[in-house]
This record gives sequence, structure tokens and C-alpha cells, in this order.
Amino acid sequence: IGIDGDTPDSPTILFKEVGKVNQLRKLIQEHSASSPEEAAANARHVQPSEGANVGLLDMSKKFITQTSMAHTRWATHGPPAVLNCHPHVSDASNEFSLVHNGIITNYKEIKFVLEKRGYVFRTDTDTEAVAMLCKYVYDSQPNKRLNFTDLAKAVIKELEGSFAFVFKSTHFPDEIVAARRGSPLLIGVKTDRKLKVDFVDVELPTADADKILGHDSEAGGLLTVPGNANEGPKLRRSQSRAFLSEDGMPQPIEFFVASDASAVIEQTKRVLYLEDDDIAHISEGELHIHRLRKDDGLSSVRAIETLEIELAAIMKGQFDHFMQKEIYEQPESVVNTMRGRINFDTRSVTLGGLKAYLPVIRRCRRLLFVACGTSYHSCIAVRGVFEELTEIPVAVELASDFLDRRTPVFRDDVAIFVSQSGETADTILAMRYCLERGALCVGVVNTVGSTLSRETHSGVHINAGPEIGVASTKAYTSQYIALVMIALQLSDDSISKEARRQEIIDGLHDIPAMIKSVLMMDKALQQLAKETLAKEKSLLIMGRGYQYATCLEGALKIKEVSYMHSEGILAGELKHGPLALIDEHLPVIFIMTKDSLYPKVQSALAQVMARKGQPIVICNEDDATIDPAVRTIRVPSTVDCLQGLVNVIPLQLLSYHLAIMNGVDVDFPRNLAKAVTVE
Ligand code: G6P
Repeated sequence: IGIDGDTPDSPTILFKEVGKVNQLRKLIQEHSASSPEEAAANARHVQPSEGANVGLLDMSKKFITQTSMAHTRWATHGPPAVLNCHPHVSDASNEFSLVHNGIITNYKEIKFVLEKRGYVFRTDTDTEAVAMLCKYVYDSQPNKRLNFTDLAKAVIKELEGSFAFVFKSTHFPDEIVAARRGSPLLIGVKTDRKLKVDFVDVELPTADADKILGHDSEAGGLLTVPGNANEGPKLRRSQSRAFLSEDGMPQPIEFFVASDASAVIEQTKRVLYLEDDDIAHISEGELHIHRLRKDDGLSSVRAIETLEIELAAIMKGQFDHFMQKEIYEQPESVVNTMRGRINFDTRSVTLGGLKAYLPVIRRCRRLLFVACGTSYHSCIAVRGVFEELTEIPVAVELASDFLDRRTPVFRDDVAIFVSQSGETADTILAMRYCLERGALCVGVVNTVGSTLSRETHSGVHINAGPEIGVASTKAYTSQYIALVMIALQLSDDSISKEARRQEIIDGLHDIPAMIKSVLMMDKALQQLAKETLAKEKSLLIMGRGYQYATCLEGALKIKEVSYMHSEGILAGELKHGPLALIDEHLPVIFIMTKDSLYPKVQSALAQVMARKGQPIVICNEDDATIDPAVRTIRVPSTVDCLQGLVNVIPLQLLSYHLAIMNGVDVDFPRNLAKAVTVE
């Protein structure tokens, strides 16, 4: 079964209501169990294998195989419409069908060539060109001798851009080929047998290759080679396979191809991650991994990893939405980020993943922070404390802009890539750009096993647990803390910073309780949203210093999920433009918790009020200086550089309530995706 694990918010109409994987699976099972006619009628969207019924009769087959695929995705070419839905097919009889994540950048050239040869395209998508190309390659070979894998290889060699594919074909019933380049892809393996799957690096030069089986280590040994192993066919490296059998008997096994682990977790925790240019072939209960080009230096052995996430972590539980659940999880998720890393008794920080690289990082000439969206805001939030504690210049970059500018990067730079998913295309490309230029690359990532966490030299997992809501909430607070911990560890050799470090560590200790206390204001915030903001078209959020990041992040949350225009403004820039917007109608949220910049924000507030502005002020609980006529949101006070962790919570809650009041399905805001795996 091939299922895509992309965000279920896909604008593709068909699967909107069946976004969850278990629903997809149920749907697939229903179709698999129904009559061939019924299955055929649904073949376009949930495709039971054409060979399934044959398999039931053909006892010579090792396995009765069912292969199906379904896909939800973000529309990139053509409007979200049934016609543009995946799978895409090569022709009316579905000779080749495939689902695709990513963008094929040379699809117009392929289309041009194929149209000249009489192929008729029906959709607006880039993907359709690949389906047609499969058919073209298949029809062009004289003796139809290419197997499915080689055919996929031939097709992929023609493609430019990024992709994760699952292919099916009526010419190869019961087989699935999956391949990736630039877009994530993993394979979940499910079997009832308690066994260790061995991936054995074998490829035989003869047709007999396919008869040689790797088997589980419980039975002893890795390979069963027929005949005398010395005289038999020589093993060649480059193909891997998992074979699951005992005494030659087939064992039930399911493979799930998905772009995200949360898509398969309900079925299995055992996954292997494909690398770029891997081509996985699933047939007869076996999985073989091939490389696109031989001798490219990369082994085709892929280890099976056991996921540590629990199913409950990706269920909504008592909450109405994932976003709400994730906001409420923050008192625990931030603890998980710090767990085992901060010793609050000795006031010390140890990040295992960074330890070996500390001397290099301390000596670097510049720290580059690169990220997108919310992750970028977490970098802005910690820039000040990083510069203060490490005394290393810090540049914070949006990944896309960083690449657009072809920013100079040097061997003695250290680049820190921050990403919840670890799969954001721009961030990955920026990382590869830095790797090529010899910079030390550090990942700060939530998703274990993701491309960023695998390809960086070292890093820190933020351990926030799976984040499903498209609008990032708990990942922000955990990224923030993970980055502060990095700054703390980097500066632990500096005596002059010791007092400040200890103050910050003590502050971190109290953060979970403070977040909890702000969450208790939820009802009041809901009321505030209803009374003052729900009907508005626009909202400014103002602050400065450490709170500038909070303004940006709060404004992003509000626009993402409530569709209200919202802008985060550095209060120091008020006089340089935004002041012109102020009147008695435009709502402005001021972030005015106490720190060294408090008087400056106070004066910005005065300027807004002098122009009849109607501010709402986020301030500390004990702040008695604010005019009682002004609406306030009062939050506990912590160390200046950590205050943003507390201040962002009311903004997350406000955005959630505004979205609900505007009738938005907050977990699936229109046009947005959880992981943007295309440039
Ligand atoms: C998308 C998501 C945002 C996220 C951004 C960066 O735009 O909708 O919530 O902040 O990507 O994602 P990353 O996984 O790299 O943190």
C-alpha cells in the first residue's frame, strides 16, 4: 500500500475528507475486499492491484499481493480539481500510474517531446508527464525486457527537479516502485513475526540473483546461497533486499511508502528512510533498494529504524484540533526539550550531539542561522542571547533569500539549520550549499530521521514530539529553548558569563509552570478575541528587542490560521512608516513586558494612544504603570531573553480562537502545507 504522509490539508478535493491515514487505509481495504468490478470503478483513485485476483488463484506465487496507492498533496501545477488529483496515469487503461510529491522542473520539455509523438495530456500537472514518459520508455524498448525497476531508472534519469514517487503498472502487477530525489520518502515494514530484518548488500550477475534470499538472523546466517557458495554466482554490491521467511515459507508482510513517519505509525514503528536516487522495488514480499547509478559511492543498505513516537502523540485526544492540543502540550514539550540536557542542580547544560564539535564552533568566525517560517522566528528570538553569551557574530537568514543571494560562506563558518520537519526544501538546499563550501553544519530539528537531521554534521533534536497542526506552535518554544541551550553550552568555558548563564538556567527551570499559568487564561483570551478582534480586517503586533521575534511569530500565527492580515512590527520602526496606519480603528497589540527596552516601548505606546489607537498590551502581572483604561494581557515575568517563550502563548491562543470564530479548520488552513518540500 502506498500512502502519502503529506499534510492532509491537501486542496485536492477527493481526499479532503479522508486525510487521516487510517481512513485512507480503511478505504483501501474496503476496495480491496470488494468485487473486481467495484475495484475497477475506483481504480483511478484507490487502486487495488490488477493482479490481486490472479494472485488468489495462482498458488505458485509466494505471496498473495495487494498493492494500492493514494495521495494527498499541495497543488503546485493547475488548480485543486479532480482532474489534477493523483494518481496520474499514462492512458485510459492505467498502464502506468503514479503519485508524486515535489516538482518536475523540466516537465514542459518532456511534454513537448511526447506531444510531438502523439501523446495527449489531460491535466495541468507536471506529474502527468512522468506517467506518459513511463509508457513511452516501455513502448520504445524492442523486446519489452526492462523490469519495473530498470524502467523507473530510465524514466528518472530524464527528470529534473524534486520528487518522491510511487509507481504502479498493469505490466508489472503486484509490484510497486518508489523513488526519491529531494523529497522525503520512507518505507514502513510491518510483519507479525518477531524478527530482525537483514538488509544484505547483494546483487547477482545472473537471473538467479532473484532466488537468493537474505533471511532473519534468528534462523542464523545472513544469506542462503544455493549450491556451493564459492563456485556459485559472485555477489556484486549495489542491491539490497529484505526477505522475510522461515523455512522458505512466506510470512505476511506489509510495506507502507510514505513521506512522513506519522503516516505509518499506526501500522508499524519500523521504518527505513530512502536516500536521494534510491529506487525501491517491492514485490513478492521483498524489498530491494537500488541506486540510480552504480558506483556512485553510496551503499544501498538502509537500516531499519524503530520509531519512538507513540500513536497517541498523533491523535487529537480530548482536543478539538491538533493546533489546540499542541499549544496545550507546551508545558510538557519544553520539559522534553530540556530533559537529560540541563542539570538544574549543578546548573549545567550538556548536548550530546554537539559535544565533539564545541571547540570548532567556539573558534568559528561567524554563526549563520538559516530557516523558514516559524523556525526562522525562533532564530531571531535567540540571536541576542547568542551574541551576548558567545560573542560570535550571528547572521539570521531566511533559507530562500540566503540561496537567492548566493551568500558567501566560508570554511570557518558554522551554519545552524532550524527546522521542525527537517524536510523544508529551501532549508535543505541551503544546508547542501553550506556543506559544499566546507562550513560545519548543525541541525536543530524535531523530526528524527529527517533529511536535515541525517545530512548535517551534528545537531540537537528538539524532542517536542510530532507536530501535526500546520501552524507551528510547540516546535517554536522547543526550538527557542534548544537554541538557548546551545548558547549556554558554547559559553560554559567563559567565567565572565557564568552569572548570566546561571540566571538563564534558573529561568528555564520555571518556564513550564509559567506557560501553564498563561494557558489558564484561555477563556479570557477567547473573550478578548471575540470582543475586540474577530471582526477586524487587520492587526499590528509591536515590540522590540527580544520581543520582535514574538511579534513576527504572533502575526504569522494570526494570518496563517485566521486569514486576518497581521504584521509584526519592530517598535523602533514605528516612526518610519507604520505610524501612518494608526487611527481609532486599527487594533494594535503591544508586547511590553519588562526588560531594558521597556521605556522605549512605553513611548511607542504613548505615540499610538496619542493618535487614538486602541492598543491591547501584553505586560507583566505586576505592571502598575499602564493606564487602567487600556486592555491588558498579564503574563508572569521571567529572564528577559526567555520572556518570549511566555509572551507567545497568548498570541497562539488568540490566533486559534480567531480562526475558529472565522470558521477556519485551523489544522488545515487553505493553501498551506506542514512541510514545504518544494522550492
Ligand atoms: C511551513 C509551515 C510552517 C513552518 C515552515 C518551516 O511553512 O507551514 O509552520 O514554520 O514551513 O518549516 P520547518 O519544518 O522547516 O520548520
